[in-house]
Amino acid sequence: MVRPMTSVDRERVMEIIRATRFFVPDEIKVAEELIDIYLSQPEQQDYQIVVAEDENGKVAGYMTYGPTPLTEGTWDLYWIAVSPEVQGQGYGQLLVRYLENEVKKKGGRLVMIETSSQPKYLPTRKFYEKLGYREMARIPDFYRPGDDRVIFGKYLGEKE
Ligand SMILES: CC(C)(COP(=O)(O)OP(=O)(O)OC[C@H]1O[C@@H](n2cnc3c(N)ncnc32)[C@H](O)[C@@H]1OP(=O)(O)O)[C@@H](O)C(=O)NCCC(=O)NCCS
Repeated sequence: MVRPMTSVDRERVMEIIRATRFFVPDEIKVAEELIDIYLSQPEQQDYQIVVAEDENGKVAGYMTYGPTPLTEGTWDLYWIAVSPEVQGQGYGQLLVRYLENEVKKKGGRLVMIETSSQPKYLPTRKFYEKLGYREMARIPDFYRPGDDRVIFGKYLGEKE
């Protein structure tokens, strides 16, 4: 089940982000800042955060997304993480499908995701490809020399 995040989930979500061992401290800080904006400013619309629960109600993963400012119908998936002990069990897919349904309901048409070209992100890129996202642009040496920004996107309604 996927549902909106609440303050009760904050600790567990931060635990998942750290446990993935994917994110450097600065990235963890940004993820946390977005969580705090979401939890403390219920009226804001820029960042939506949802969690996926396992069958016992334990939070297995989370995702931050929102409408891309100054676009018509384009949305960004800003952050997604699934707890390492339950990766590969479909929670990531559940979260992205939820996002796509929400975007469609709101009249959105394009979902964008940015990631890194580092080898450790290869499984992540495979995950996006599996869900029908394709590389649309790449900015060489964006994050640091040798580490490109890889921009994936998917027009909703396109055949996968
Ligand atoms: C990327 C991530 C969110 C995927 O979530 P997940 O729950 O493990 O993925 P799912 O089980 O839903 O996988 C969905 C599909 O993607 C594919 N996939 C997932 N992980 C994969 C991997 N390591 N290698 C190849 N394909 C993979 C699978 O083929 C799967 O399809 P299948 O069910 O037909 O086998 C999760 O692995 C994660 O948190 N990774 C670390 C953090 C991260 O990279 N976040 C994104 C930052 S940009």
